[in-house]
Amino acid sequence: MNNLLDFSRVRPPVEAPTNVHPLLDESLKLAEHQANLQSIEVVREYAKNLPLVMADPAQLKQVFVNVILNAVQAMPLEGRLILRTKAAEDQIEILIQDTGVGIPAEEIQKVFDPFYTSKPVGVGTGLGLSLSYTIIQRHQGKISIASEVGKGTTLRILLPVLPPG
Ligand SMILES: Nc1ncnc2c1ncn2[C@@H]1O[C@H](COP(=O)(O)OP(=O)(O)OP(=O)(O)O)[C@@H](O)[C@H]1O
Ligand SMILES: [Mg+2]
Repeated sequence: MNNLLDFSRVRPPVEAPTNVHPLLDESLKLAEHQANLQSIEVVREYAKNLPLVMADPAQLKQVFVNVILNAVQAMPLEGRLILRTKAAEDQIEILIQDTGVGIPAEEIQKVFDPFYTSKPVGVGTGLGLSLSYTIIQRHQGKISIASEVGKGTTLRILLPVLPPG
């Protein structure tokens, strides 16, 4: 499975000091049209002077697009999408929150598994979050999910800040 993911979608990271805000904005742009069609309100709460991270911008963008599209797909009939960033000691925290359908407690531990999807055949491959997990791990970060059925879902991504000097 790892080989398949490696081969098909994850290239070795090409890392550089990276500001995640423009990447979040570009990712949002790709989902904006769909979000508008579904009357989704988008709220951005970006930290001022957020530290840079050492990252492959293309790979991080792949993660953000995956997570934002999941959020949009969870809110077919209006809702709110919140993108929030914070500095937390030697890490940055990125929260992507939706007010969508949520995930049942008995399903939540499966969402990072390759090919786990609740979407109809042909809509979801179930690879989005497993790929995101692999990418964030390779960046020495963490990705986790919290969800409540009927209330919504929050994806939390932690990335180590660029060491000074
Ligand atoms: N924001 C969310 N709200 C509700 N359910 C979610 C959310 N994000 C993920 N999920 C659940 O986790 C499953 C796996 O997500 P993942 O992104 O890996 O695959 P997918 O979205 O189904 O397919 P693909 O990403 O290939 O289009 C989804 O099918 C859905 O059941
Ligand atoms: Mg997905």
